[in-house]
Amino acid sequence: RTGDAVPAVVIGTGYGAAVTALRLGEAGIPTVMLEMGRLWDTPGADGNVFCNMLRPDGRAMWLKDRTLAPLASFLWMDVINHDTERYPGVLDRVDHGDMSVYLGRGVGGGSLVNGAMAVVPKRNYFEEVLPAVDADEMYGKYFPRATAALGVNHVDPDWFETCDSYRYARLSRAHAHRAGLKTTFVPSVYDFDYLRREEAGEVPRSALACEVIYGNNHGKRSLDKTYLADALGTGNVTIRALHEARAIRRDDTGGYVLTVHRRDESGEIVERTEIAAQRVFLGAGSLGSTELLLRARDTGTLPELGAEIGQGWGPNGNVMLGRANHVWDTAGGTQSAMPALGIDAWEDPEHPVFAEIAPIPAGTELWVSLYLAITKNPERGHFSYDPATDSARLHWRTEQGQLSIQQAKALFDKINRANGTTYRTDLFGDTRPFENRFTYHPLGGLVLGRATDDYGRVRGCPGLYVTDGSLIPGSTGVNPFVTITALAERNIERILAEDWPTPASS
Ligand code: FDA
Repeated sequence: RTGDAVPAVVIGTGYGAAVTALRLGEAGIPTVMLEMGRLWDTPGADGNVFCNMLRPDGRAMWLKDRTLAPLASFLWMDVINHDTERYPGVLDRVDHGDMSVYLGRGVGGGSLVNGAMAVVPKRNYFEEVLPAVDADEMYGKYFPRATAALGVNHVDPDWFETCDSYRYARLSRAHAHRAGLKTTFVPSVYDFDYLRREEAGEVPRSALACEVIYGNNHGKRSLDKTYLADALGTGNVTIRALHEARAIRRDDTGGYVLTVHRRDESGEIVERTEIAAQRVFLGAGSLGSTELLLRARDTGTLPELGAEIGQGWGPNGNVMLGRANHVWDTAGGTQSAMPALGIDAWEDPEHPVFAEIAPIPAGTELWVSLYLAITKNPERGHFSYDPATDSARLHWRTEQGQLSIQQAKALFDKINRANGTTYRTDLFGDTRPFENRFTYHPLGGLVLGRATDDYGRVRGCPGLYVTDGSLIPGSTGVNPFVTITALAERNIERILAEDWPTPASS
């Protein structure tokens, strides 16, 4: 073996990983985090750490020659995406045939690129999705713990009613109410007070400067500012950026050895090394963690892994769509890139939908209302290992997303009827009004209680754990990071109490 040996390794630095590392660090356990993306702390030539959506450069995307934003066109014109230099940028899109999955890459994972919406799921749906998890404990203890540690805050309702930043949301609210639908404020980890000061011209703009999917330079409480900062503060956690875990095998002391590829700043792999750990926590996200275990099972390095590895995947029913507004209904050129309002029709027995009112942060009036609908679709995909490419392939067919489109269509047909409006058909590269060939919310692959026990311990592999979105079987009914965070809090508390032979801090 080359490389060092440590008590615990956490793979990834997204939500599940960050929670786990903090709690290990607090318990006095020396912990190394491996993150394949960059540490985003150094300004580029323009003085900013991240680029914005209007002028993207290499920092935007993970090792691509061109940006791949979810809105592919405007008036059918290819004006949204741009050629860029190939660089280990912050947003990745992994294409799997009929489904493309967007992911954050870098220290902080998805928290670097997401819309910051911090939504606790509906309790009855959480109980349906994860019946083995004690909901009293989750709602009484772990959701509050997660939202506090994530720095979740709420928009000031008075400011919301008068600000420019959310004119687009007020317009969509009026349209929804006209159709008899209910709207609700969405909590956020973007600092709403910072946003207010952005609009007042007191601080540099970020949410108001078209910054979101390629990173935010200000205002967002991403994990590097919350859980990961606290984890480093314990003095027991270190983060190795540009380190990708590629393979995992047992060593003869009962622990595990990871094969690690290190990249340089240009994204080239410059070193292959190993690290040994008594315990390994997989927090590489639904795609990353599932791929590691599939590869381990199918190449024979962890042959005891079972048939549940790679099962139970879903896109959280994501459907994106745009509506064409009347000329007199302006959404405003100044739009907060961080949503603050949703249409809540989840209780509709036939067409359950939770639709976030999304911005089009273009800096100019476009007469479009955009939405990301989360629908309730029981279809699931699965992964298989492809030896030719040494990677996991997702099996998800377009037809499996059809129910999600029906649900979204039922809701937005109502809104269009009540307002005399229509769908935009120019946004997704062809003439489709509904886009469900991508997801922001990949969930599942290593489902809790199936691939693992009820606390994320991988079946057949003592000392190996799953901590991230791959535990959740394909759907949460709302944006998922609060659920991932709270579940990781619950699981690591139990694991620390039961799996260390003596109190870990002694
Ligand atoms: P996550 O994906 O966050 O982190 C995994 C990390 O592991 C990444 O940093 C990755 O680079 C790293 N990694 C992967 N494989 C590795 C390997 N082999 N070795 C080392 N490192 C590896 N959710 C929400 O609740 N509200 C919202 O507003 C949004 N908005 C949104 C917008 C966009 C554009 C995206 C892409 C996503 C969202 N989401 C969201 C989804 C949310 O960000 C997502 O559910 C979580 O980040 C998932 O957390 P995980 O802990 O599962 O992994």
